[in-house]
Amino acid sequence: MASLSTASRALARSAALRLTPATAARAISTSPVVRDASSSSFESPFKGESKSSKIPDFSKYMSKGSGSSNQLISYFLVGTMGAISAAGAKSTIQEFLKNMAASADVLAMAKVEVDLAAIPEGKNVIIKWRGKPVFIRHRTAGEIDEANQVNIASLRDPQADEDRVKKPEWLVMLGVCTHLGCVPIGEAGEYGGWFCPCHGSHYDISGRIRKGPAPLNLEIPAYDFPEEDKLIIG
Ligand code: FES
Repeated sequence: MASLSTASRALARSAALRLTPATAARAISTSPVVRDASSSSFESPFKGESKSSKIPDFSKYMSKGSGSSNQLISYFLVGTMGAISAAGAKSTIQEFLKNMAASADVLAMAKVEVDLAAIPEGKNVIIKWRGKPVFIRHRTAGEIDEANQVNIASLRDPQADEDRVKKPEWLVMLGVCTHLGCVPIGEAGEYGGWFCPCHGSHYDISGRIRKGPAPLNLEIPAYDFPEEDKLIIG
């Protein structure tokens, strides 16, 4: 009898060892766990406060007017603030641009006025404009003819004389060699115009490059004749 009970205990132990995790979990879930709510350690931080907290009375701040009048006031305030902000921004930008603009002395240097009546025919005058020399040549009728008789196709920088002048008798150009920036000499060179001694560039009576290393014709600045004997450069 004793050996029978020993065998049944061994059988029960081995069955318990063969339980799969799922079976074991099911076995656990079938045994209800009873928790005592009164034994919980959680304490609400607001416990008891609801009785002591008082909501302030905001009724005195509430508008007495109708909804549409409130909207009107809101729109008025927003519009006024927008207008003031726009005026402030405009004035700030205006002041900034005024400060950035060229001063009167700089503007005066930007344009140069020349009295052409003082330049006799066949003569050169050099003036300074924006720190650079400007050649003004009062050309003779013979020089104008000479400039127009050149075969444009043969030029290194092809340009007709009429495209370089506003009035044929007045040739206005920057006195800066287009090679490396020297100032050419007037009434010199093989073409009766200007000669740059730095590296030997020859310009004709229209200021076009004819010989030497310079790649381009002498540059024509912006200019105008506001009156008969007046030239404005710039
Ligand atoms: S700078 Fe005039 S030829 Fe070189």
